[in-house]
Amino acid sequence: MTVLVTGGAGYIGSHMVLALLDAGEEVVVIDNLSTGFDWVLPPEVELVVGDMGDQALVEGVIRRRGVDAIAHFAAKIVVPESVADPLGYYLNNTVKSRALIEAAVRAGVAHFIFSSTAAVYGEPAVVPVPEDLPLSPVSPYGRSKLMTEWMLADAAYAHGLRYVVLRYFNVAGADPQGRAGQSTPNATHLIKVAAQTALGDRPRMEVFGTDYPTADGSCVRDYIQVSDLAAAHLSALAHLRKGGESLTLNCGYGRGYSVLEVIEVVKRVSGVDFEVRISPRRPGDPAQIVAKADRIRERLGWRPHYDDLEAIVAQALAWERSLKQRNLR
Ligand SMILES: NC(=O)c1ccc[n+]([C@@H]2O[C@H](COP(=O)([O-])OP(=O)(O)OC[C@H]3O[C@@H](n4cnc5c(N)ncnc54)[C@H](O)[C@@H]3O)[C@@H](O)[C@H]2O)c1
Repeated sequence: MTVLVTGGAGYIGSHMVLALLDAGEEVVVIDNLSTGFDWVLPPEVELVVGDMGDQALVEGVIRRRGVDAIAHFAAKIVVPESVADPLGYYLNNTVKSRALIEAAVRAGVAHFIFSSTAAVYGEPAVVPVPEDLPLSPVSPYGRSKLMTEWMLADAAYAHGLRYVVLRYFNVAGADPQGRAGQSTPNATHLIKVAAQTALGDRPRMEVFGTDYPTADGSCVRDYIQVSDLAAAHLSALAHLRKGGESLTLNCGYGRGYSVLEVIEVVKRVSGVDFEVRISPRRPGDPAQIVAKADRIRERLGWRPHYDDLEAIVAQALAWERSLKQRNLR
């Protein structure tokens, strides 16, 4: 039994590959390296450089490697870019996911784990956000992912596939053993940007809006450590292989930190008091998104191990330093 990881050369997918290897699983990766890096994968992992929407390629890999489960990470992920290029996002994230799901059905793959996002909730009226809230994404990115959730549910009903949709909140940190991390040079993730600023790679950073209805006026988000998230996928895989039903689950810790709080922690852990500029709000940033996070614990028995913002920040800083030392940016 082999697990096919699409987007396995990317940030979260590469941590999933490590988690699978650590658990003794066979792994094959399909990645077009549009934002991922081949060097992040251990040499024993087969990397097929190609498109997850290429059905002949995907079906060939499934049959040759005896794939019984797909963990589907491959996507374009930048919200403002999706506003500027909606059709590119619908093609990559929705149309190609449709092709992938069809290839899975045709080749008889029974288990599918999909990387969805809190962006499917849009600007949630209820915080913490439960999974059964009406879904109203406000960006093409969020809609491109929600359509894939729907396709998956419909295909599962019609074709007997079983799936777990995991809706990630804000993913952060790096492998505690220093084997992987967020490597995209122009990533927009807050902790990554703050870590780069602390290390002098950016002259300053911006905070978009300090007039939100939150305790300190900046936006509040739920940060989940990336190895904890990978472990949630392993629990989902075990659930599906045991014959468990299809599920849709939030992935977060159920507690929020404001942008200003996160920046304070990065300053404290790095020991650098870098410049922060307050800018106007960005359109489409909800004031607060925090997961209602009990369903995944109840249904999968998942428990986080790295629910500690200082530790997450320390991992992000360590990874940033190691990229710098190895000249990988
Ligand atoms: N990073 C977050 O905070 C976050 C939050 C919610 C959801 N997600 C979801 O998690 C998944 C992984 O995100 P990430 O942060 O690791 O991003 P990433 O850009 O680091 O990884 C995406 C990977 O997919 C590959 N890829 C993209 N399109 C492809 C295609 N058509 N065929 C083959 N490979 C392709 C890229 O080369 C890259 O390696 C995405 O589906 C994203 O929507 C991420």
